[in-house]
Amino acid sequence: MSEPEIMSRQTQKRLDEAAVLRTLNAFAVDVITIPSVEDLFWYVAQNVVGRLNFVDCVIYRADDVGASLTQVAALGAKNPYDRSILNPLRIDFGQGVTGQVAQSGKPVIVGDLLKQQNYIPDMSPARSEICVPLLIKGRVVGVIDSEHPDPDAFGQAELDILTTVAAMTGAKLELLAEAERSHQRYRDLAASHVQLSQETASRKALEAKLFAARKLEAIGRLTGRFAHDFNNLLTVISGNLDFLAADTRRPDAQASLKDAQSAAGRGAQLIRDMLAFSQRTRLSPELADLNEIVTNVCTHAKPLFPADITLTQDLADHIGVINVDIKETENALRNLLSNAREAMPNGGHLRIATEMLRHNFTDNQDLVAPLMPGLYVCVSVQDDGAGIPDASLHQIFDPFYTSKPVGRGAGLGLSMVLGFMQQSGGSVSVLSKLHQGSRFRLYFPAIIAPDGIETNDLLTIDQ
Ligand SMILES: Nc1ncnc2c1ncn2[C@@H]1O[C@H](COP(=O)(O)OP(=O)(O)OP(=O)(O)O)[C@@H](O)[C@H]1O
Ligand SMILES: [Mg+2]
Repeated sequence: MSEPEIMSRQTQKRLDEAAVLRTLNAFAVDVITIPSVEDLFWYVAQNVVGRLNFVDCVIYRADDVGASLTQVAALGAKNPYDRSILNPLRIDFGQGVTGQVAQSGKPVIVGDLLKQQNYIPDMSPARSEICVPLLIKGRVVGVIDSEHPDPDAFGQAELDILTTVAAMTGAKLELLAEAERSHQRYRDLAASHVQLSQETASRKALEAKLFAARKLEAIGRLTGRFAHDFNNLLTVISGNLDFLAADTRRPDAQASLKDAQSAAGRGAQLIRDMLAFSQRTRLSPELADLNEIVTNVCTHAKPLFPADITLTQDLADHIGVINVDIKETENALRNLLSNAREAMPNGGHLRIATEMLRHNFTDNQDLVAPLMPGLYVCVSVQDDGAGIPDASLHQIFDPFYTSKPVGRGAGLGLSMVLGFMQQSGGSVSVLSKLHQGSRFRLYFPAIIAPDGIETNDLLTIDQ
């Protein structure tokens, strides 16, 4: 070899080494900003190995359990369309040159593949191969593999270069895995924060319901005792008034006695409502058809409604039999109708409907008092009147709560309804939107279900 020839070979070698260093330097800088594992693999295959005079490169990724490798990025015949792999091969650990490197975690150079029985030819059969592992903390997470059509194409220099590329790639893979773990931790934290907020909100709602229930119970006990004692006084007053009315003939005295008797009558009604609220009414339950009760109440109520209020009845065909005090049920319904009428001073629409409902623990949102899961016969009274402001919704069942002017309402209607419904083993639900209307629903336990309904849902109630 002539001297200038030797000189130019040395110069070329230095130039090649400088190009390798430049490529590795650029990789070291670029790698910082590569955002994902997929981008990293493609960057390494095409921009690193591709620029380092390797004619082909395929990167394999190991599965999580370290059992097999799959081709994920490539340079050369395997990726004719930019970032896609043609027929990505899956190779078991231990199988072929790549599988052997994955299993041992050590790089391999094969000088002549024709002598290598272990060789797995892919798209274009080659003569020599170099393969290095990709490691994170000593665990094989993939391999970088390159083949060449000539024998003995790879030596120590190529091994050094690929090992350096693999080390930088492995370090970046570790960083990306850590970033993914902290993202996941952040997502978990955000999810548990949402769950915690929801739990706190529902706990607060439950506490508010419990507080309201306890308050009603306490007022109920007080009202019950008061109503009972006062009832005894009223009985004495009414009895004496009746006795005097039968005896006196003076017309002015008769008028005064009539006033006194009617006041005592109103007092007696108040006391009845208070006793109902405190669940101390003596009920006379009997088997009944709610549709019949509703029809009867509506027939009597209709003529009392102004003409600008329309009333529709929507009664379900097959509803179960209930066991209730019919008079008190009618009274409860009349209370709801009268409230609805008063909520529609400028007219509107009133709908009364009956239906059978299956209640379970999850759907007690609108219930005023808790209800056992089971089958219920329900009547709902729905108006499109004034509605109830959210702030007052929790008060409307309190005894003596009224939004009506003094002398117009005692505020006992709904408390009577709730007390009676609870005493009958049922409950009440309310849905209301200001200026849009309200729907009150009474739940009665179904004692005998209509045909086709599972009877094991029926409740046994001690009246
Ligand atoms: N359908 C309804 N639409 C709008 N508000 C209603 C309705 N029903 C009840 N309310 C509100 O609930 C309050 C309490 O009702 P409740 O029947 O207990 O007492 P009241 O009607 O005021 O008096 P009472 O029934 O003793 O004559 C009412 O004053 C009203 O503010
Ligand atoms: Mg009322």
